Amino acid sequence: MQNPEAETAEEPTVTETSLREATGDLHAARRARLMDRIGTTGAALFGANPARNRSNDTYYAYRPSSDLLYLSGFEEPEAVMLLLPGHEEHPFVLFLRERDLKLEIWDGPRVGVERAREMVGADKAFPISELEEQLPKLLAGRTKLFYALGIDEAMDGAAIRAYRKAQRLARGRAPAPMSIHEPRDVLHEMRLIKAPEEIDALRTACRVSAEGHVRGMRMTRPGMTEFELQAEIEYQFQRGGARSPGYPSIVGGGANACVLHYIENRDTLEDGQVVLVDAGAEVGWYTGDITRTWPVGGTFSGHQRMIYDLVLQAQMEAIRIIKPGLDWTEIHKTTVHVITEGLIDMGILEGPVEQAIEDKTFKKFFMHGTGHWLGIDVHDVGAYALDGKKGRPLEPGMVFTVEPGIYFHPEEEASPSDFVGIGVRIEDDVLVTEDGCEVLTSHVPKEPEEIEEIVGADL
Ligand code: GLY
Ligand code: MN
Ligand code: MN
Repeated sequence: MQNPEAETAEEPTVTETSLREATGDLHAARRARLMDRIGTTGAALFGANPARNRSNDTYYAYRPSSDLLYLSGFEEPEAVMLLLPGHEEHPFVLFLRERDLKLEIWDGPRVGVERAREMVGADKAFPISELEEQLPKLLAGRTKLFYALGIDEAMDGAAIRAYRKAQRLARGRAPAPMSIHEPRDVLHEMRLIKAPEEIDALRTACRVSAEGHVRGMRMTRPGMTEFELQAEIEYQFQRGGARSPGYPSIVGGGANACVLHYIENRDTLEDGQVVLVDAGAEVGWYTGDITRTWPVGGTFSGHQRMIYDLVLQAQMEAIRIIKPGLDWTEIHKTTVHVITEGLIDMGILEGPVEQAIEDKTFKKFFMHGTGHWLGIDVHDVGAYALDGKKGRPLEPGMVFTVEPGIYFHPEEEASPSDFVGIGVRIEDDVLVTEDGCEVLTSHVPKEPEEIEEIVGADL
């Protein structure tokens, strides 16, 4: 969903750097930048993620909304942020849970209304229970409401009711919100270019993720279950400061490696198989995203090694071309070219290569993209195409994954018998620098000889 008005709003008057220097507050600087783009006729509303029920009365560990984290660092559920650009007294209004000793004894501390200024930087705070009463009044005088519809139905209801009530209160005599706009195109372009603090956070997350993979390789033994191997990896993540992985870990031995989102992780790893591990540590709300594929018994078979070498060649050639100005789509084109050519050479696909690429026959074995933005979300935000074109030029500060793979699913009729059940993906995280790129996940080996040396070698 595009918001052309926000795109053409006036240039920022307060730069992130100047405000950060003035206040030392990165979140305030981000809010200022967003508010500059929204303009003084707008108001922006962001709700916290709801707590998610797991089963009966048990809930998943709470994960704050990434947009709210980015703009405030506030981590509690049941919160709403309202930004009022240019407001003299309270450009940042926060609705949040009130303090409640009985509930805090059960569920932990709350910031509460009284401490919202000191702890979150809010200019004004209200109990979340007053949202419906206060929001329409606060929207008075604003003609545009920036709110992302369709993420949380309960929040949608509150936002639309406030929008309607603000119109009724104005009775056509005063400005009131008359249109709803998407705030995320502007915000997500901001999130796409990582600030130095975010790059530091990603560096840490990537290092810890790599340490988990190294431990996993070292602890691998035929006969262990996929979830035991997962435990070794995630244990290392948590020792490194991760509260949890950034996404459910994929640990797939044998043909399970050919199921792209395999997270059951419940089979036993056997000698002769390769295991595909896609796991990343979330540290300080930023996540790494690494895939390595290694032989359970410590040595690749001939066929496994052929596929491994081809995926590695595709991945390294793609990484080699990354630099500012390169079109994003060139990365996928590179991996597709290398993989298609290699599969033709092996007699698995029919040539010539340009024809096979045009016919997309490679998609039977390489059916996903080569990467995605990475940050507070594993599939981080920001557009992949600009100005109606297919791609966009890379810029310093972008962080993304490079993750080609080849999979010979047993149910895929075109899978050659010698290769059936082999699945290989190699995934690294890269930062675009001024003159090229830096691989943030280089602490975990990917050269096959290095991998064979440490698999099963213990700690
Ligand atoms: N781990 C999810 C992905 O690689 O996209
Ligand atoms: Mn990925
Ligand atoms: Mn991954």
